[in-house]
Amino acid sequence: MNEPQLKVAQTQKLTNHEWQARKDDAVARAQGNIAPVFVERASGSEIWDVEGKRYIDFGTGIAVCSAGHCHPKVTAAVAAQLEKFSHTCVMVTPYDNSVRLAEKLNELAPGPSKKKTIFVTTGAEAVENAVKIARAHSGRRGVIAFNGGFHGRTMLAMGLTGKITPYKNLFGPFPAELYHAPFPIEYHGITVEDSLKAIDNLFMVDIAPSDVAAIIVEPIQGEGGFYPAPVEFLQALRALCDEHGIVLIADEIQTGFARTGKMFCSEYAGIEPDLITVAKGMANGFPIAAVVGKAEMMDAPLPGGLGGTYAGSPLGCAAALAMIDVIDEEGLVDAANHIAGVFAARLQALRAKFPDTIGHLRTNHGAMMAMELVKNGDVEQPDADLTKALLGLAYAKGLALLACGTRGNVIRYLPALNISDELVNEGMDIIEACLDELV
Ligand SMILES: Cc1ncc(COP(=O)(O)O)c(C=O)c1O
Repeated sequence: MNEPQLKVAQTQKLTNHEWQARKDDAVARAQGNIAPVFVERASGSEIWDVEGKRYIDFGTGIAVCSAGHCHPKVTAAVAAQLEKFSHTCVMVTPYDNSVRLAEKLNELAPGPSKKKTIFVTTGAEAVENAVKIARAHSGRRGVIAFNGGFHGRTMLAMGLTGKITPYKNLFGPFPAELYHAPFPIEYHGITVEDSLKAIDNLFMVDIAPSDVAAIIVEPIQGEGGFYPAPVEFLQALRALCDEHGIVLIADEIQTGFARTGKMFCSEYAGIEPDLITVAKGMANGFPIAAVVGKAEMMDAPLPGGLGGTYAGSPLGCAAALAMIDVIDEEGLVDAANHIAGVFAARLQALRAKFPDTIGHLRTNHGAMMAMELVKNGDVEQPDADLTKALLGLAYAKGLALLACGTRGNVIRYLPALNISDELVNEGMDIIEACLDELV
């Protein structure tokens, strides 16, 4: 009789392509992967695959490992917690690190109002719960989100997401009472005024402002293409929400925890969102997410109405507390701004070399940077094929890279905030070599 496959997997060294073939056979195609690179280990800003090949990491697992892979302080905190216990459920018998983390998040969230926190496990759950809180607080039903926004893959978060392919195809009907307005992107000719007029139009045509529970906005659109919300737009949304008693939710899941050169990106606009959603970079690779917001709103849902089995796992709380210490002790807010400068110099030089290909650079918000690839220097000719080819070649040359954008033509840079200048330059040399080959 043949040995079971599992034993083979544990004992036999396979190549990336062999693992990919097994994955394609075992895992549904909807959960795809960017590159056939199966990770064996990672440290700081480097990853090694099962074949021993090394990659510089410009993606950090989509803005998660902001202090680098296996940061010793975070690893030690989680290991120490593991020695004590791994799970009791925060809604059954809680533990002190969940309280300490809630207090810390309440202190860090932008604005002077008294805050409270609830824990969940993923970003999408944080978004779902923020909407539940806004509805419970306001007694209203509608939620306004933006074209190109990304809020997750669960039903409500997917409904709020402003892009069909690949997130919404085949998954309708979508939850009711969700509305979308254009997001202001100067490069695409959409002004702040256009967006605000569109919201006014929604108020006239689709839903009265008095029926709107929340407006949810990413201070910088992530999956949508790394488009920063102009400061005056966020300020106008704040004013609009104040005028109509609407809850303003800032989705800081990708932008939070020093990534953008501020602790939270909303700080650039000087606004206090009513609720913020956080996840990703908060715990440097351990699954934990939260909603942090004004205490009176956070307390609107009834006891037991929010939570989950793994909500605020003690391992996630330990990791997040350690990560927040690392952000402080290692000056990661400043580090994000420093590294942005190193990238910006290289990206500007690259744009000067490939002016018809690199249509636009976005380098003004810390370590959340992007270049938009077009044909003939024309914003209306997005080059998704080149973007895809560049990704493939970058992995082949040893650089882990991510794309984004509703039109599939944006390369995004999300390095660890403490990546060395040497590794940035080595990675950018690879990008330049790829463009030399492809353009
Ligand atoms: C802004 C934003 N919101 C929500 C999410 C969903 O988070 P998760 O994938 O943890 O559910 C993401 C993930 O990319 C995100 O970038």
